Amino acid sequence: MSILDRLEQLYAIGGGPGANRPYGSPEEDAAHALVAGWMRKAGLEVDVDAHGNLCGRSGRRVDIWVGSHLDSVPHGGRFDGPLGVVGGLEAVELAGRGAVVAFRGEEVGCIGSRALCAGGTALPAGFLELHIEQGPVLERAGAALGVVTSIVGYARGELVFEGRAGHAGTTPMDGRDDALVAAAEAILRIREAARAIEGAVATVGRLTVEPGGSNVIPERVRISVDARAPDARRLDELIAAIGFEPVHRTPPAAMAEEPKRVLLDELESRGLPAVELPSGAGHDAGILAAAGVPSAMLFVRSLKGGVSHSPEELSSEEDIALAVDVLTASLVRLAGEASPAMSS
Ligand code: GLV
Ligand code: MN
Ligand code: MN
Repeated sequence: MSILDRLEQLYAIGGGPGANRPYGSPEEDAAHALVAGWMRKAGLEVDVDAHGNLCGRSGRRVDIWVGSHLDSVPHGGRFDGPLGVVGGLEAVELAGRGAVVAFRGEEVGCIGSRALCAGGTALPAGFLELHIEQGPVLERAGAALGVVTSIVGYARGELVFEGRAGHAGTTPMDGRDDALVAAAEAILRIREAARAIEGAVATVGRLTVEPGGSNVIPERVRISVDARAPDARRLDELIAAIGFEPVHRTPPAAMAEEPKRVLLDELESRGLPAVELPSGAGHDAGILAAAGVPSAMLFVRSLKGGVSHSPEELSSEEDIALAVDVLTASLVRLAGEASPAMSS
């Protein structure tokens, strides 16, 4: 079955519109079960760790991992996460070595990879994550593939605004204490705080309004905050400017020299431009890198201007085939001698 067919099967799980496999949902479980079946069919030894992460191991050098995640944002695309798992599975199959992992809950703070790194079990000796770029850089550069230099640091949390509920028709405008108006002003301040720091971004993506009646003045509003910056100093500055207490915080992570060099070599040996770029999205590779696992990422060009976290997300079949070829060759190199499949 082709990679695109597999991506389509995973995409169909949530029933649409878009991918709907949030962390902890039956849909995320169904995706893991589907991929576990493909792993077994490929002759891999399958196990699930205490955190629900799925791992398919070949017979050799199972300490070198490839992979990504299978959960999605609401109304997500086909490629974010599953591409790295399905492409990684093909690379392990072709290379005859290494292991492929599907982490849990990447979209809500890299739950699975974070839990793995927090304790107990042995970490891999190396990790390669194939991922759609989710931005416009490669498309603008006319490059099919790129190698990640570093992953942005980010912090997530909430702000809560308290007001006073009241009748929408009988409470004069002067006497109101409307929690949603206060939240709206804060959202504008958050935008300005990010704009004032070079390379920083901040997003409010979720609003909960209580009691939530169209004819009731809002009493309490919660807003989510997602704040990102290229380095720890600017992330600190942004968090302070917004004035929120992050529930979790992921430091910026540099990718490791050796696996990065191998990916770049494989691009160059195919006559492809060796584009290097930072990642503005968070990834499991950042968590593993911060835990000391030499990690690198290969990006596949996003089409349609780089739209992602949307059903519009797109990469081409040709670019994906090229990416899996580069990933496979890199896995072979990082996991030792050439495999019979590759040298024939
Ligand atoms: C994860 O995909 C993120 O960067 O939000
Ligand atoms: Mn992702
Ligand atoms: Mn994502």
